[in-house]
Amino acid sequence: MTEAKRLAAEKAIEYVEDGMIVGVGTGSTVAYFIDALGRMADRIRGAVSSSEQSTERLRRHGIEVLDLNSTGPLALYVDGADECDPHKRLIKGGGAALTREKIIAEASERFVCIVDPSKCVDVLGRFPLPVEVIPMARSLVARRILERTGGQPVWRMDASERGVVTDNGNAILDVHGLEITDPVALESELNQIPGVVSVGLFARRPADIVIIGSEPPRVL
Ligand code: 5RP
Repeated sequence: MTEAKRLAAEKAIEYVEDGMIVGVGTGSTVAYFIDALGRMADRIRGAVSSSEQSTERLRRHGIEVLDLNSTGPLALYVDGADECDPHKRLIKGGGAALTREKIIAEASERFVCIVDPSKCVDVLGRFPLPVEVIPMARSLVARRILERTGGQPVWRMDASERGVVTDNGNAILDVHGLEITDPVALESELNQIPGVVSVGLFARRPADIVIIGSEPPRVL
């Protein structure tokens, strides 16, 4: 799937205009996009980054990383996804960067999502839904999610079996076993649980354009 990711990322470059400040997501597909953006680093004003990982890669390419508070609204945000349905609603957060990704998506006029074909599904939920939580609320939120959705929340661990800590200092619950027939309603409901920082459902603010990596790329 790496070639499909690269093809989607290269196509997304067509949406970048001279002088833009580009919102940049996180993940292996976005890494190809950052590398392509690096080739035109002198033609853009900079980027707003959704993670420390992407910030480091952007800087390596000589792209200035700007604070969203000083840029105002962005014209373009490019990011990957873990799942995408036919309505361009997404599950994101496999890379634990969902909160900053959601903030940048909300701040952007156009959200271009780049995926390989394996990410396309009819109904969201096969990929466990990431939820970022305040550490002290982890067990409470897990109980509420189980009661309200029937899904099985699992505390995300790193390779050393320690709880993953996000760039914001929080924990991640991955909710298994969901079949998300009404993503907007579920996103709103989970957002109401005290201790939830953000939910990896991008349904209230879906992607505007989805590029599926293939030869040639498919644009939805
Ligand atoms: C990170 C994300 C990523 O966009 C998502 O996990 C897809 O990653 P990849 O491009 O590596 O398949 O949401 O939080």
